[in-house]
Amino acid sequence: MRLMNKLNELRKDGALSMHVPGHKNMTLGNLSLLDWKDDMTEITGLDDLHSPEGILFELNEFLSGKYPGYHAQAMVNGTTTGILSAVYAVKDKVDGFMVIDDAHKSVYHGLNLTGASFEQKSAGDVLNSSVQNKALIITYPTYSGRGVDNLEAIIKEARAAGAIIIVDEAHGAHNDIAPGFLPSAMTFNADIVVQSYHKMLPALTGASVVFTNDRSLHRDMMKYIDYFETSSPSYLILASIELAHQFYNDYTSEEFYKERSALIDYLKALDFTVHESEDPAKIILNKKDVSPYRLFKSLNGADVYSEMVTDEGVLWCLPLFHPGHSYPLSLLFERLEKLSFNVPDPLESKGENLSFLIGKEAVRAVVPYPPGVPIIHAGEHFTHDIVKTIIHKRYYHVKMEGIEDNIECYKVEDDT
Ligand SMILES: Cc1ncc(COP(=O)(O)O)c(C=O)c1O
Repeated sequence: MRLMNKLNELRKDGALSMHVPGHKNMTLGNLSLLDWKDDMTEITGLDDLHSPEGILFELNEFLSGKYPGYHAQAMVNGTTTGILSAVYAVKDKVDGFMVIDDAHKSVYHGLNLTGASFEQKSAGDVLNSSVQNKALIITYPTYSGRGVDNLEAIIKEARAAGAIIIVDEAHGAHNDIAPGFLPSAMTFNADIVVQSYHKMLPALTGASVVFTNDRSLHRDMMKYIDYFETSSPSYLILASIELAHQFYNDYTSEEFYKERSALIDYLKALDFTVHESEDPAKIILNKKDVSPYRLFKSLNGADVYSEMVTDEGVLWCLPLFHPGHSYPLSLLFERLEKLSFNVPDPLESKGENLSFLIGKEAVRAVVPYPPGVPIIHAGEHFTHDIVKTIIHKRYYHVKMEGIEDNIECYKVEDDT
């Protein structure tokens, strides 16, 4: 029972969460109201998730109250299902896709599966491009809590030109939860918005909701959600969506801002540099003379688990503190105070030489995870810069999906 042992060990060590899911080891929100016995199937009185008419129809009605005018559908397989479904749902309505800035691998998986044509654009270039009859896929906010400049204007002008706007709001289910938080793209009338409730709100992993602003688009989405999503939905996840949504509706932010300020002040007093993102629930930490990767490792060593580490720093997803929360902030302070940086910097894989990849066609996308944004897609050619980035990330032990398949393919070829 190795997995059970590992999970028990993390629990026994009091692992502190600065990562998703948003319930932060059940210290936030109301998931204690769930009972394992509620893991049921579609017995009479419950409902069919893909053709909801009863209690799940009512759940969707409740969710659609978030932004009047939108249709909502609860999902149990995460935003990934919503993104794949969105690409399929609009592919025959448009001449092609425009992917704005970095996007999660699910966007490219959808595009690859459909064979749809797409171009990559930066948000700054969209307003100068022809978007007529295109579908725009926008990631908002980013993994690290950045917004998109001119989002409102982009959506407005693109829609006026006949474009369909799909927004990957995986990291923004808490948008608009209180003053000071980012607005949802639904306030600007995006056509399809997918939110991972499990990331920042207190819901179970897998909990997501898709919102659409048009009845027929909603019907098309439902067709593909039915294709891609399990036909055995977890009622525990569905109930956690309802609880997280009620949490969202009832949220008041005084406690959040109070605890957040205390935490940031504490970090600064310990000589951390704290970058505050546009999303107030995301911060990026650095410490002078300590690489982000060593900092990440030191925190892990103190049983403080972060969301992600990149060259920019260590990303924390802050708890959405609320009256009555039980997030152990004082334990976190104790651990931060005793933090030891006496851990080795992650070591370079000795003598790694990946230059044989340069010029070769990628057999699989290479995706650092997290954040899950591909640095090269299948079919593209490895350049010197891409290989350099891969070596750099492997140096710091960043997990890289797909790289081994490429190495295996070309290493063999090279060796023969
Ligand atoms: C930007 C972005 N979009 C979509 C996803 C997929 O979301 P989910 O895990 O809910 O399937 C992720 C997951 O990390 C993500 O970072």
